[in-house]
Amino acid sequence: MRGGIDGAGAGGPPIAGGHAMAVAEGWLCGLDPAEAMLDVARARPDIEWVLGDLSSVSWDEGFDLVVMTGHAFQVLLGDEELRVALAAIRSALTEDGRFVFETRNPPARAWEQWTTGHPVEIIGASGAVVRMEREVETPVEDGLVSFTHTFTSPAWDRPEVSRSTLRFLDVAGLSSFLAAAGLMVEEQFGDWASGPLTDASPEIITIARRTA
Ligand SMILES: C[S@@+](CC[C@H](N)C(=O)[O-])C[C@H]1O[C@@H](n2cnc3c(N)ncnc32)[C@H](O)[C@@H]1O
Repeated sequence: MRGGIDGAGAGGPPIAGGHAMAVAEGWLCGLDPAEAMLDVARARPDIEWVLGDLSSVSWDEGFDLVVMTGHAFQVLLGDEELRVALAAIRSALTEDGRFVFETRNPPARAWEQWTTGHPVEIIGASGAVVRMEREVETPVEDGLVSFTHTFTSPAWDRPEVSRSTLRFLDVAGLSSFLAAAGLMVEEQFGDWASGPLTDASPEIITIARRTA
C-alpha cells in the first residue's frame, strides 16, 4: 500500500505518525515546500520526505491514500493553484484510492477567535520563553483571511513576524473544484468526532475518490 502526506512538515512526527499506522505495510511519502518543516518531519525516518509542492511533482504511480492535514488545504489560495493541486492528487491516486483532508468551515468564522489577548508561550531551544500572538488583518475578503504571528522573547533583540493567508472555501465551492478535477465526495464530516456536516460545523472533513 502507498500513502502520501501533503503539507506534512509542522506536525511531522505526530500527524504523519497517525497516518503511518494506517498504511504501515507500505511505502509512505511526505511532501512539503518548506525545508524547515521537513527538518522536523524527518524525525520519522520511515517516511520518504520530498521538498516541493503538488505543482512540482508528477506522481502517477498509484497512491492508495493521499492525506492533507493541519488545514494545509487552506494554503492553496488561487483557483488555478487549487486546480493544479487537485489534478496532481487525482493522477497520483489509484482507481480505488482516497484523498482525505480538512478545511475550516467558513460559516463558523474561526478567524474571529484568532485575536490578540490569547498569547501562547513556550520554552525555546535555548531555554528562553518565546511568546506568540496572532492578529487578523481586516477586512476579510473573497474567502481569504490574512493574519500575522508575532514571536517575542526576552532573549531576542526584536520580534519575528510571520504573515500568512488562508482560503476559506465553502461546501459548494469545494464540491465544484473536486468535481472539475475528476474527484467526488464519498463522505464528509463536520468535526473530529465524525459529526454530521452542518452550517455550524467547525470543519469540513472530506473523504474523496476518483469519479472514474
Ligand atoms: C499548518 S501546516 C500543517 C502541517 C502538518 N500537515 C500538520 O498537520 O501539522 C501547513 C503546511 O503546509 C505547507 N505548505 C505551504 N504551502 C504548501 C503548498 N503549496 N503545498 C503543500 N504544502 C504547503 C507548509 O510548509 C506547512 O508545513
